[in-house]
Amino acid sequence: MRGVKILILKDAEAVAKKSASLIVERINKNPKLVLGLATGETMLPLYEELRRAYKRGEVNFSEVKTFNLDEYFGINSDDKNSYRSYMDKELFNKVNLRKKNINFLDGDVKEYKKVCIDYEKKIKSVGGIDLQILGIGRNGHIAFNEPGSSFKSRTRKVRLSERTRRDNSKYFFSLRRVPKFALSMGIGTIMESKEIVLLASGKRKANAIHKSIDGKITNRIPASVLRKHKKATFILDRAAASDFNKI
Ligand code: PGA
Repeated sequence: MRGVKILILKDAEAVAKKSASLIVERINKNPKLVLGLATGETMLPLYEELRRAYKRGEVNFSEVKTFNLDEYFGINSDDKNSYRSYMDKELFNKVNLRKKNINFLDGDVKEYKKVCIDYEKKIKSVGGIDLQILGIGRNGHIAFNEPGSSFKSRTRKVRLSERTRRDNSKYFFSLRRVPKFALSMGIGTIMESKEIVLLASGKRKANAIHKSIDGKITNRIPASVLRKHKKATFILDRAAASDFNKI
């Protein structure tokens, strides 16, 4: 059966708790889970919940493999604004994931094309992503696949939209310093994941969620493609779900 399953919960905390317990459950069922991870504000409470679950001894990451969706281009992984630094701080350094099992796009190398090709190969070589976690941009992007990205796209260098750069400028001193490019898994890559869970909270995501679910399936709204996936779930808070059925 295709079509997104939708869960609407009270608030961002409930979204994080539900998503964390789903991840913990999948790892307990398959300790070698290949887990696709996302960054951004929405994911912060999720990683907090995962750290807590780990501390309580409810989950063991020692055999889990991870692949992050994207990384800024031209930023060193040690830079405090890199997604790698975010992940180290929020999850990787706080749980028993093994360094060798962490996969990340390196956005600071000249051979970025090779980095992207190798990432695709690595995903294939471990049997594909079992569970991919996604956020959504206000323009409906998933990872850094901005509106207009092909549904067949693979991991590649992408240009960030002005809206995305503005949304992300809160982490940089000024808009000028926000990178213009990133490396990102493609929509085709993401759609090959066996299971996908998209998280959204807050009113500012309501329009993107509404267009993804109630509107046409179109690459103008990249997240709408998830309706073609056979196992995709949106976990939303009431605010993010507040524009449903407004067409
Ligand atoms: P956010 O980003 O969680 O910071 O809102 C989500 C995204 O752009 O995918």
